[in-house]
Amino acid sequence: MKLNICIFGMGYVGCANGLALAQHNSVILVDKLQSKVDRFNDGDLPIEDIEGSTFFKKNKLDIKAVNNFDLIKNNIDYFILALPTDFDPNNSSYHTDAIESVLSLIFQKDKNAKVVIKSTVNIGFTSAMREKFQTKNIFFSPEFLREGSAFHDSLHPTRIIIGDRGQSAKEFSNLLLNASHNKTPNVLYMSSESAESVKLFSNAYLAMRVAFFNELDTFCLSKKIDTSDVVKGISMDPRIGMFYNNPSFGYGGYCLPKDSKQLLSSFEEIPQELMNAIVESNNTRKNFLITKILEMSPKIVGIYELSMKSGSDNSRDAAVLDIMDKLSASGIEIIIFDKNINHQSSLGYKTHEDFLIFIEQADLILANRLSEQLKPFKDKIFSRDIFNSDL
Ligand SMILES: NC(=O)c1ccc[n+]([C@@H]2O[C@H](COP(=O)([O-])OP(=O)(O)OC[C@H]3O[C@@H](n4cnc5c(N)ncnc54)[C@H](O)[C@@H]3O)[C@@H](O)[C@H]2O)c1
Repeated sequence: MKLNICIFGMGYVGCANGLALAQHNSVILVDKLQSKVDRFNDGDLPIEDIEGSTFFKKNKLDIKAVNNFDLIKNNIDYFILALPTDFDPNNSSYHTDAIESVLSLIFQKDKNAKVVIKSTVNIGFTSAMREKFQTKNIFFSPEFLREGSAFHDSLHPTRIIIGDRGQSAKEFSNLLLNASHNKTPNVLYMSSESAESVKLFSNAYLAMRVAFFNELDTFCLSKKIDTSDVVKGISMDPRIGMFYNNPSFGYGGYCLPKDSKQLLSSFEEIPQELMNAIVESNNTRKNFLITKILEMSPKIVGIYELSMKSGSDNSRDAAVLDIMDKLSASGIEIIIFDKNINHQSSLGYKTHEDFLIFIEQADLILANRLSEQLKPFKDKIFSRDIFNSDL
């Protein structure tokens, strides 16, 4: 049966889920940014996602975008919240004000509305919202997609997790199963606190894994040992695995840094060492690399692409951003080459549109990930990319 679905937030999570669900349902996307709404209604997906953009252009889907809640029809079966939850270091917790104000709007309109939170939230948030809005109809369902392959991941979920065991939880998991191109993704029903914990512990584990291989690389660089040999040698043990083991400048992106900090904060007085280390290790790694770079005494450092991953346009919380700020504070001139950024951008550093001029001007080029384009200039490059992969 075709259901009416309304999704708040037209970022990676909202757009990818919207397209996936629009295969069999009627979907309305809501965003406060008129520019995103217009772009979407003109047939252009407002996120960087090749598979999603192609799918959107090729298929006639029952999906549209609006920026005004009043334009939404009354018979919505499910509201899905894909709103940002940035980490607030002053309160050591996520900003959840966007979610809370949208929940108010929804329940003012329909006190029996069913709402699924796909945003990552702190453990206990869903129960607190059920209490606040006096309803059992708020569910948490963690999202595991990756930026750059958001739509693909929505179609091929590794697992579907719903933080509830009731009838609506089953109905919602069926919606996701119908959208899935995987034959049999695992479906798990659990308490909302368990589902919230799954999301935070998953991302903290991924951050820990990146941090582990980065510390291995820090050790090898310091002792003049070949990192590549060591990583291959240990990763061939199937319990460790030849994946997600490529050294980098540090973990970054929208989710791993903020979700690790949120989990650390959630531990409060509960004994732990690792959670703290996951957060601190990233700073230690960046500081180690800064020392290495300063030892090379460059006057002008070129940053080759700000994004975390090759092929991505997304530089949210990329590790290199901290490195360039600290190098700049040490008196080094920073220049950037990145075809994905607006050249008038307010980062405060000079950007180059001409690759060869960029290469010529920089004494040293930092590249979190290497590319064919850089190959002829390897003597000028500083990178820890060994396997050319982010998987
Ligand atoms: N990006 C990922 O890979 C990923 C993966 C899993 C989970 N998540 C989580 O999902 C949530 C959303 O992430 P994202 O990357 O899609 O975010 P995003 O920043 O790409 O998009 C959020 C969108 O919400 C809009 N918005 C903000 N306030 C609004 C409001 N009051 N009303 C309507 N629209 C509003 C913004 O304009 C923006 O377009 C976050 O909690 C994130 O942690 C993200």
